[in-house]
Amino acid sequence: MPRKLIAGNWKMNCLRTDGVALARDLGVRYSGETEPAFDMLVCPPATIVDAVGAAISGSGVLLGGQDCHRATKGAFTGDIAAPMLADLGCTHVIVGHSERRQYHGEIDLMVSEKAKAAHEAGLTAVICIGETEAERDAGQALAVCSRQIAGSVPEGSTADNTVIAYEPVWAIGTGRTPTTADVAEVHAHIRAELSRVMSDSDDVRILYGGSVKASNAGELMAVANVDGALVGGASLVADDFWAIAKACS
Ligand code: 13P
Repeated sequence: MPRKLIAGNWKMNCLRTDGVALARDLGVRYSGETEPAFDMLVCPPATIVDAVGAAISGSGVLLGGQDCHRATKGAFTGDIAAPMLADLGCTHVIVGHSERRQYHGEIDLMVSEKAKAAHEAGLTAVICIGETEAERDAGQALAVCSRQIAGSVPEGSTADNTVIAYEPVWAIGTGRTPTTADVAEVHAHIRAELSRVMSDSDDVRILYGGSVKASNAGELMAVANVDGALVGGASLVADDFWAIAKACS
């Protein structure tokens, strides 16, 4: 079983002072663990990746970006290239988050290109997939995940350079979560689908994301094929994020 990964997606939150304080707090807690049962990753907004990296330096907490461009450099005003994130000490980058798919029109092919760019920069791509509420109501949840895996996971993906995050769109920021039976069904399906596109699919970490809180993390993290969490809102409060991480141990 892969070691659990607890990842915080800070989204468009935190000015430098808040972000550095949160990062320091997590760094102290993580480095104080004798044998942490989980890896911890924080993905701050691009403006403070550098400062947060300095704050967690030496603690063992990992650093990630929230998005990257498919190109390594060029005339793409406002965008950030994967090598730029690596240059700041990032080891991971989230790609294809539903908020990018929804508000920036990102389609599977673009997500796949971004993941490939991440791999080429030596980063682990955290590729997000998940159905909308209408798709779930229409009985399409599994089919949507199959389609997104086929389209968003590039050739050359391995358990080392790729993490999948299943984030049902209707569960993000809503306080609603799927039942553990539903999570088990989708994660088992994702594992099976991954075996079509990579040879070491059993070792790929499949995170669950969407309204993960301290109160539900224990039961979610105990579900088969759930190898960690991608946490939004609750990752902004050190006590809450830490409690979620401890639910893995
Ligand atoms: P919430 O934890 O706020 O529901 O957000 C989940 C998410 O989108 C993480 O990427």
